[in-house]
Amino acid sequence: MTLVSVAQVAYLVAAILFILSLAGLSKQDTARRGNLLGMVGMAIAIIATVALALDQSERPWAVTALLIACVLLIGASIGMYRARTVEMTQMPELIALLHSFVGLAAVLIGYNSYLTEGHDAMHLVEVFLGVLIGAVTFTGSIVAYLKLSAKMNSKPLTLPGRHALNAGVLVASAVLLVWFLASPSIWPLLIMTVLALALGYHLVAAIGGGDMPVVVSMLNSYSGWAAAAAGFMLGNDLLIVTGALVGASGAILSYLMCKAMNRKFMQVILGGFGGETGGGAAEVTGTHHEVSATETAEALSRARSVVIAPGYGMAVAKAQYPVAELVSRLRESGVQVRFAVHPVAGRLPGHMNVLLAEARVPYDIVLELDEINDDFPDTDMVLVIGANDTVNPAALDDPGSPIAGMPVLEVWNAGEVVVFKRSMATGYAGVQNPLFFKDNTSMLFGDAKEQVEAILAAMPARV
Ligand code: TAP
Repeated sequence: MTLVSVAQVAYLVAAILFILSLAGLSKQDTARRGNLLGMVGMAIAIIATVALALDQSERPWAVTALLIACVLLIGASIGMYRARTVEMTQMPELIALLHSFVGLAAVLIGYNSYLTEGHDAMHLVEVFLGVLIGAVTFTGSIVAYLKLSAKMNSKPLTLPGRHALNAGVLVASAVLLVWFLASPSIWPLLIMTVLALALGYHLVAAIGGGDMPVVVSMLNSYSGWAAAAAGFMLGNDLLIVTGALVGASGAILSYLMCKAMNRKFMQVILGGFGGETGGGAAEVTGTHHEVSATETAEALSRARSVVIAPGYGMAVAKAQYPVAELVSRLRESGVQVRFAVHPVAGRLPGHMNVLLAEARVPYDIVLELDEINDDFPDTDMVLVIGANDTVNPAALDDPGSPIAGMPVLEVWNAGEVVVFKRSMATGYAGVQNPLFFKDNTSMLFGDAKEQVEAILAAMPARV
């Protein structure tokens, strides 16, 4: 057996492990195993790739080994440092930045492949598409990173005739591909790269507000297709399979998130949403009632069934730990406690589930929107902890609202609602929330963690 065929087998094993990893990651109780399988698959893939590179190197193998070791060391050190220091709330921006690397890698591989290999038509198409997708992913991901980390205004950039501009770039790219195939000089490739970089920038700059999560997962999908294109150029089956897995899962996730926000995928991708924050929305007025932590603790002592709707504020305050403590105290005294998790609560898919799992909240009391929305009328008390847009009745009542049509947790149907937040400020989509002014809603102002701790301290003996 040659080293090449051993590597092919290793790639196949790695690809199967990646598929099993994705399957494992789809459920909370198998997620750990899924992660482990993915890590083993990646280790096998790296070992096989390095062995192949050493075997096929034209330089003395020690030089190639040293170069690879340096690159691995630098990459792994930066990666480990970032993974250790990143806050959960900064995950989306980190992911966006990592996607930009995949895009850049696809562009560089494309140019390398063009400069070093033959120019048959199939290969030229692979190079052209790889560089195109890679360049769009590169600048698109950088803009997403800058917007998510608030280094750039998150409002959508709405240039006049922006759809025509995007379509124009695609048409121009098609013409450039014809030119590239007819005479494979570097010029059409270079011109297309500049256009694709501009397209990536413009596509994501045009998207704002609540649509960013979809953009990140869409860029995830693009980065997968860019990797698959690179796999075709390098003749690397594993890269093709992995790229296709990432491309497809990113696309499925984008679709599911659009469904969760009741947005059409094309509307999101074409952008412009979220600029006129609240522009056409009905004005929300009224008075709100405030409660204290002590009063909330007293109300909890009377409740038989409690639902907690967590949101981005719980993540910022790191309130999941005292919340978990509150849940176990309530459960010990016989209160039914469940969590209602909206599909886009927080800032990344599964954000709340990860935080709650981290705080060791049992999985079986963490329910999704569809599973719990009908139960609110039979619930005594809802604690909305740092959630806002995901519990906004305007999504259902006000057709002019920017979040109109988004399914929301109908917490107001419960007996009593307490909203934990620091002020009357709006949530991510920038729209005011009529829930705060309802008769059965009270506001508990302050940092969510401090307030939950204050409730724990004030809990009467019964609970
Ligand atoms: P948001 O609408 O973002 O509202 C969070 C609320 O938490 C804010 O109104 C804020 O009010 C409060 N808050 C912030 N820090 C707090 C603290 N330390 N203590 C207590 N409260 C605090 O939350 P949501 O309901 O989770 O909705 C998520 C939004 O993000 C949706 O619009 C969604 O489309 C969007 N989004 C989702 C994702 C994904 S995939 N999950 C990704 C990106 C964006 P105060 O300032 O008054 O405290």
